[in-house]
Amino acid sequence: MGGVRQQLMAAVLVAVALMATAAEGYITQKTWGAIRRANRAGPFVGLVVPNTYEMVPVLESPSFVASKSIPNMDIQGRRFRFGTIEGQSVVMVMTGLSMLNAGLTTQMLLSLFRVKGIVHWGIAGNANEDLQIGDVTIPEYWAHVSLWNWQGMELPACVNATTCLPRAPRVTRVSKGCSANVFLDNAEYRQFLRKQFGCTPVEMESAAVALVAHTQGVPFLTIRSLSDLAGGGSALGNEASTFLDIAAQNAVTVMLKFVPLLGKSGSEMDDGAAADM
Ligand SMILES: *[C@@H]1O[C@H](CO)[C@@H](O)[C@H](O)[C@H]1NC(C)=O
Repeated sequence: MGGVRQQLMAAVLVAVALMATAAEGYITQKTWGAIRRANRAGPFVGLVVPNTYEMVPVLESPSFVASKSIPNMDIQGRRFRFGTIEGQSVVMVMTGLSMLNAGLTTQMLLSLFRVKGIVHWGIAGNANEDLQIGDVTIPEYWAHVSLWNWQGMELPACVNATTCLPRAPRVTRVSKGCSANVFLDNAEYRQFLRKQFGCTPVEMESAAVALVAHTQGVPFLTIRSLSDLAGGGSALGNEASTFLDIAAQNAVTVMLKFVPLLGKSGSEMDDGAAADM
């Protein structure tokens, strides 16, 4: 009997412990200790990426070197990965799809870690028929940076020996990108967005990341490669399935070139919080 009761007790304790972990909305002292240790490698460039297919090429790239002491930390359902890109300290986090995920995750990133700026990349639908699948867009509407010289960036035009885009993709600054909690796959709505708001990339995260970064005065830049003409209606139509890999890789290639160009010195951040690190 005693044994059964003990087992029951143990089961109840385990259940309570699991509930406590699952329901914990605040950060424990132990986790804060780990965060403080991780922050010694900062200030970081915060890398915010929506999906695995846009993150995996970074993890597989020789440009990204994972931290040996603290490669990653899991906090409240998000995995923060630490490392360097050509000497630049970075902390990378995947948001998952949509504005809520993107805003929430960006807020966590900025609240927990010493981040001097955010670079966000991924694929996006295209609303601008002057551009092509694989082109990488940097909307000024979200950007807080001065002019960059992108000449010399060569992006591949072919998926394999036989399937190629009409021309090699290019990197270009555009006026506006547009985000919404809607996956845009409708030619008329795409044309409406283009006409009314001048959107080029249309996707589901950047405006939320930008809002959180802007609210806290952290510089922010989006790099979005076009994966399809949203809603189709041209020769290249809606070919995300054929060109997804090339589009995702192009955004990563540009991000990996861009991040090392950012200053490696400290940030202008308020060091009140950093003082105790
Ligand atoms: C090239 O890729 C396309 C699209 O994925 C595919 O249909 C085609 O079979 C591939 N060709 C070769 C030679 O692998």
